[in-house]
Amino acid sequence: MEKYIVNGNHKLTGEANIHGAKNAAVAIIPATLLAQGPCVLENVPPVTDVGVLCDILNILGAKVSWRDKFTLELDTANLNKAVVPADLTNKLRASYYLMGAMLGRFGQATVGLPGGCKIGPRPIDQHLKGFHALGCETEIKSGDVVMTSPGLTGGHVYFDVVSVGATVNVMLAAAGAEGTTVIENAAREPEIIDLANFLNQIGVGVKGAGTGTIRISGAKERDNAVHSIIPDRIEAGTFMIAAAATGGDIRVKGVIPRHLEPVTAKLRETGSQVTEGDDWIQVQGAERGCAVDLKTLPYPGFPTDLQQPMSSYLARCTGTSVVTENIFENRFRYVEELKRMGANIKVEGRVAIIEGVDELEGSVITAHDLRASSALVIAALSASGQSEIRGIEFLNRGYYDFAGKLERLGARIKKD
Ligand code: UD1
Repeated sequence: MEKYIVNGNHKLTGEANIHGAKNAAVAIIPATLLAQGPCVLENVPPVTDVGVLCDILNILGAKVSWRDKFTLELDTANLNKAVVPADLTNKLRASYYLMGAMLGRFGQATVGLPGGCKIGPRPIDQHLKGFHALGCETEIKSGDVVMTSPGLTGGHVYFDVVSVGATVNVMLAAAGAEGTTVIENAAREPEIIDLANFLNQIGVGVKGAGTGTIRISGAKERDNAVHSIIPDRIEAGTFMIAAAATGGDIRVKGVIPRHLEPVTAKLRETGSQVTEGDDWIQVQGAERGCAVDLKTLPYPGFPTDLQQPMSSYLARCTGTSVVTENIFENRFRYVEELKRMGANIKVEGRVAIIEGVDELEGSVITAHDLRASSALVIAALSASGQSEIRGIEFLNRGYYDFAGKLERLGARIKKD
């Protein structure tokens, strides 16, 4: 098990360049199954989730290689079997996008159920509801989702819950269907817009991405594409929160400030000064921030992926914060670790009541999921003394060169 040793209580200052969005990359990489001809994806973050997805495609017969550190070349022409075994799909959650992509390409597929972070039940009923609307029958058999159809046709689906995964999956399947599909109550995340831009480039007609209603006109003749992945708003938000938590001053560069509005607004409420330009945001933390209430919501609400890092910061703010997790119910496991550092947090169901303490103390703490790992690093950076953070392999799933970037901002952090 990899671990970090962090010596805390140093203000982080300087600039951090933000990489491409992991959650957009893991949707667009499977989308290349729908292209005809090789595709080039630029600004791809070389995180382990992306690596695992590329390995799966290579095993299935595609040719996927890195042209340079952040540019992927993908040629899926030779991939001719619509079967993905569960021992491959259980390596990551985003492998579920192979369901929609395979279905869009072949009209039928057998794909193992996904793995991923244990942050609460992560059902796929809405994904399947969408596939049914396209004329596909589904059955879950021995850990696989078996999908059959006489040929996909455009349909109409209303999602009962706003789901990023279901929206992406139905867009991918609909891209290869005959006719037009309408998704209502669709997720509006920027990563959905990025996928829509890629699909439009290969000749699929996608309208309305970024709103609650998306229309996808499938295309039988499709093209190839060169596409650049959008910046990772979650990585950017993590560094913004790190600035606030350490009373530092960080400029995150290469971002789309509009994507970070909910984070900017909350940090300002805590007393941080936030300024922004066309493609940067600068956060100057207060000496000690003040408590705020926070509710996670689908975009453009406050992102659940930043609930944990934000709570680490609030643990040291003055006053009482009430944090409500509306998306994933088990996203408070890290609270036990923060308590080891002296945090005063009470969790009741989906709500955490955080009484800010004067000081967190360095401790031995363990991360159990991706975003908990960045939350614990932030807590350690703002704590007095030394912390040992275990479970760092989760961090590498979604952040590239996290410790390196923090070190360049003045953090005392090293891998052990
Ligand atoms: C994606 C993101 C993840 C982020 C989450 C919410 C990727 C690879 N992952 O995860 O980082 O935290 O969005 O912004 O992009 N649900 C159902 N039935 C379904 C599908 C979802 O009930 O069929 C529920 C889930 O249990 C959850 C909510 O809908 O409560 C939102 O989940 P969803 O948006 O689907 O999350 P993911 O796509 O798994």
